[in-house]
Amino acid sequence: MNRVKVLASVTTLAALVLVTAVHANDLKAAISKLAGDIKDGKGDPKAAVKAADDTLEDVMYLLRGRRSIKIGELQDLEKLVANIQRDGAPKTLLAKGKDLEDAGYTLAAIARVSEHLPNDKGKKDKKAWKDFTDHWATAAIDFAKAGKAGDGTALKNASLKIHESCSKCHSKFK
Ligand code: HEC
Repeated sequence: MNRVKVLASVTTLAALVLVTAVHANDLKAAISKLAGDIKDGKGDPKAAVKAADDTLEDVMYLLRGRRSIKIGELQDLEKLVANIQRDGAPKTLLAKGKDLEDAGYTLAAIARVSEHLPNDKGKKDKKAWKDFTDHWATAAIDFAKAGKAGDGTALKNASLKIHESCSKCHSKFK
């Protein structure tokens, strides 16, 4: 490759990385906005579904690891829910009521967006798909309320239900 070609590839790659990053940030912003709307008793997922650009996987990765959405001091909501449903929430975590509340509404927002993005298997059984996302969204709102109230038992119960929705849907549709 000559220098011009190398430069062209590097530029293309940089542009691609930038587009991907902008897409991820738009999606995170849209999810946060939806979470706030759900908290206010509204919550039309249309804008966030559009930001997701038909990619369920991008939405799911908001829940895991490096790419996950960050709420206050909390990141990796998948691990957060898995830990609480198994061990309950330690006092230090229960003290972060605002973060837990926001995490709950964010989980509900991600559920509502996922509802509209069934994969090919999900499209063949839309009722089951919607049941899983409904169960998840309802439990996520319980999670938010329990988090805000600092109610460890209710938080653990809500986490159990959320965790169950993830596992059941994954075994059926992934
Ligand atoms: C309504 C069904 C459904 C629910 C509920 C659901 N998922 Fe998923 N999830 C999927 C499907 C389908 C895929 C595979 C995505 C693809 O193939 O595009 C997936 C993929 C993922 C991935 C990407 C990595 C991988 O393992 O494929 C993560 C992370 C993930 N889900 C986390 C979660 C968590 C955490 C929950 C619960 C809070 C959850 N999901 C709830 C359907 C669901």
